[in-house]
Amino acid sequence: MDIFKIKGPVRIKGTVAVNGSKNSSLPIMAAAILAPGKSVLRNVPNLSDITVCARLLRKLGCKVTRVNGDSLSIDSTVIDNPVGEYEIVRQMRASICILGPLLARCRRVKVSMPGGCAIGDRPVDIHLRGLRELGAKITLKNGYIVADAPKGLRGKEIFLGGPFGSTVLGTANVMMAAVLAKGRTVIESAACEPEVADLANCLNKMGAKISGIGSPRLTIEGVKELQPVEHKIIPDRIEAGTFMVAAAITKGELKIENCRLDDMMAVVDKLRGIGVTVEADDGGCFVTRKGPIKTADITTQPYPGFPTDLQAQFMALLALGKGNSVIIEKVFPDRFMHIAELNRMGANLRKEGQAVIVAGVKKLVAAPVMASDLRASAALVLAGLAADGTTVIDRVYHIDRGYEKIETRLNPLGAKIVRESV
Ligand code: EPU
Repeated sequence: MDIFKIKGPVRIKGTVAVNGSKNSSLPIMAAAILAPGKSVLRNVPNLSDITVCARLLRKLGCKVTRVNGDSLSIDSTVIDNPVGEYEIVRQMRASICILGPLLARCRRVKVSMPGGCAIGDRPVDIHLRGLRELGAKITLKNGYIVADAPKGLRGKEIFLGGPFGSTVLGTANVMMAAVLAKGRTVIESAACEPEVADLANCLNKMGAKISGIGSPRLTIEGVKELQPVEHKIIPDRIEAGTFMVAAAITKGELKIENCRLDDMMAVVDKLRGIGVTVEADDGGCFVTRKGPIKTADITTQPYPGFPTDLQAQFMALLALGKGNSVIIEKVFPDRFMHIAELNRMGANLRKEGQAVIVAGVKKLVAAPVMASDLRASAALVLAGLAADGTTVIDRVYHIDRGYEKIETRLNPLGAKIVRESV
């Protein structure tokens, strides 16, 4: 198992380019199931979650190969085992996004029911409700979701909202099932995340007829078949936001290339509000901080609200703020594993239900800490950059799920991160 040793404090300075989005890549890889033949996806990051997804697709019968570094070729000519096995699904919950496309293509599928994870229960009831509305018969058997639609799926008007608003992968699943359904489907309360829009745009390139992309109301006219596609994945807005916080927390100066500020308005607004300068710069941006970190009130929400996937990183940043901030988590109410670890580094964070009161401290100090999930570990890396001394982070495999060799990206910018195998 690898650990990180991070020597701080440092100043992050220079230029970094953002990779393709993990959360776009995963459902779009699953979309390749819908069109027999060879699809090519470009700008796919080299992450362990992508490797797991490739393994999942191979088990179904697809041939998946990485070409030219950032491209993936997925040949889905043969799918002879429409089963998402527990052994893979338990490693990565996003595996659930094969359910919709497999059902549309094979009409009978079995996918392991995902378990809970470090950020909460994460049920899939809304995915199943949506697929049932399209005519699938769904049963649960020995921990597996068994979905059947022997005569194919039928379009329908579906309300897909849940107790926490829209669902990203639920929308992806129902949309991917509906593109090959008979007739028109309307998804109301669809997720509006840029990753869902990327998937919809990719499906349209494959021959689907989806309108309302990027809005909460998607209209899908079913088609008989789709064609394989070549598609470039959008930049990862969460990776971009993490780099922004790296610059902000270290009083740095960072040029971030390949970043769509338009997808990040809520994040940029909060950064500017706390005294960080973010300037658009030729397909990317320039981020600097000169003065103190001011306080903020942040509530996470589905897009276009502030993303839950940057909540932990902003908590690390506001921990060094001048005064009290409040962070309310409205998407995953239990996504707070980083609080205790940040407090071990001298932060003053207190959880009150779904809210966290962040009393700013003058400095963070190095400590041995444990990564618990992907974004929590990113927050610990950021805190380590700013803290006095050498922070040791255990279980960095969590961070490798969503950030490609983060130490090799941050070290040229002034970080002092050493990866060691223990
Ligand atoms: N929910 C339900 N029932 C469902 C589905 C969701 O109650 O059937 C609830 C969830 O428990 C949660 C809320 O609805 O409270 C939103 O969950 P959503 O379904 O949108 O999450 P997801 O699709 O499983 C994706 C990302 C997450 C990101 C969330 C929210 C991927 C692969 N994952 O998950 O990314 O946090 O949307 O934006 O796209 C990450 O990258 O670190 C990560 C966790």
